Amino acid sequence: MGTAGETVRLLLGGKEYELPVRIGTEGNRAIDVGQLYAMTGHITLDEGYANTGTTMSTICYVDGEKGVLRYRGYRIEALAEQCDFTETAYLLIFGELPTADQLEDFRGNIRRHTLLHEGMKTIYDGFPPYAHPMAILSAVVGALAIYDKEFNDPRDVTQRRLAIYRMLAKMPTIAAFSYKRSIGQPYIYPQNHLTYCQNFLNMMFAVPSEKYSMDVDFVDALNLLLILHADHGQNCSTSTVRMVGSSNVNLFSTISAGVCALWGALHGGANEACIDMLETILADGRNLGKYIDKAKDPNDPFRLMGFGHRVYKNYDPRAKVCKSICGRLLDRFAGDDPMFELAKELEEIALSDPYFVQRKLFPNIDFYSGIIYRILGIPKEMFTVLFALGRLPGWIAHWREMHLSPDKRIHRPRQLYTGHTEREIVPLIKR
Ligand code: CMC
Repeated sequence: MGTAGETVRLLLGGKEYELPVRIGTEGNRAIDVGQLYAMTGHITLDEGYANTGTTMSTICYVDGEKGVLRYRGYRIEALAEQCDFTETAYLLIFGELPTADQLEDFRGNIRRHTLLHEGMKTIYDGFPPYAHPMAILSAVVGALAIYDKEFNDPRDVTQRRLAIYRMLAKMPTIAAFSYKRSIGQPYIYPQNHLTYCQNFLNMMFAVPSEKYSMDVDFVDALNLLLILHADHGQNCSTSTVRMVGSSNVNLFSTISAGVCALWGALHGGANEACIDMLETILADGRNLGKYIDKAKDPNDPFRLMGFGHRVYKNYDPRAKVCKSICGRLLDRFAGDDPMFELAKELEEIALSDPYFVQRKLFPNIDFYSGIIYRILGIPKEMFTVLFALGRLPGWIAHWREMHLSPDKRIHRPRQLYTGHTEREIVPLIKR
């Protein structure tokens, strides 16, 4: 990264100002407006941050026009093929692929911390059975700041490292317990001889009364989905993590906030919303045309869930990988499930309909991930929880990068005030 002496000139109120241009390693450019307010008394305005770089980061590169995604320089397709999720997590958080010894040490540190404090089970008892697992996840992750309070200082190197291990280790346990709570089954404790993905599936689906054997294709599919979800630059939840973490609050509270941001239907909640949409279309006599028309109607707020992306104006590379595994799993497990047939048809129509083609609205990762999770037997309320499990290393990597940066400041955007100018209060009886 550098400035290479490049600047832009800004003409404002008859005066000329010079602003430096920052150049990223892929040649992408940013006008540095950090001193703009001090120099001119003006702020920049960019609703939804569509054009705003909030930080410089070495973690993830996304080229939405070309459909490219790389973690720390490695293509997502190569990582999905050659690495497992814990290796990818190490890469994202610490910046390099681990050696065999580093990976074993990393996995050992995660294994050592998978159990929850027994007292935490009482938190689950307080939730009603209809509680959404994302609400439980954010609440219980937040509660780690109480049970693991000796790791709460993000400025302490040792506490920071141990908080990272504990967060990675406990997230699958917290997630699986939230599912068991929702269906009234006993909690299944972590089994540390299993891999990260095997352990999660075991805690989700095993019961104490019988032996559970998991299909290797299921483990592979989960591993792949977690890798594909692991990071995606300054998306809504990652920006939330940076925003919240910038106040120097602990990692657990920070991740809890990230979970909340991810839950929304326009972000991680889209995979659940996509299955909801397919169910609605099926229940409505499979009237696909009606829903395509609704999606195209500018006066109808309905959108096709699982289509479109703020950054990708080309095929989402994660969706491409997902689509191939989805096809394999459908051939092996789906039979003639009407929902899968409907999904295929919807995809074909949207990929050829001029409305979607012109707006570059391709199926995104959430279109396929929901379908894959459904094949794995994961209930739709848990889909976004699995997204959170996958995104966790990315959140942690950004949190750590921010804390290691000498330029770290509390995040404090400004606003352009458009409300009333000063006015007098009318007494209550006269209003
Ligand atoms: N169905 C129908 N029309 C759409 C859709 C859709 N899914 N997405 C965008 N459009 C239209 C939109 O109406 C607008 O049309 P026009 O130019 O005529 O006004 C045009 O496409 C541009 O849309 P936008 O709202 O400016 O796009 P955005 O960048 O603000 O929104 C999005 C991106 C992902 C929120 C949006 O595409 C969407 O709501 N998709 C459905 C939800 C979804 O699948 N989200 C998961 C995203 S992938 C997971 C993640 O990374 O978080």
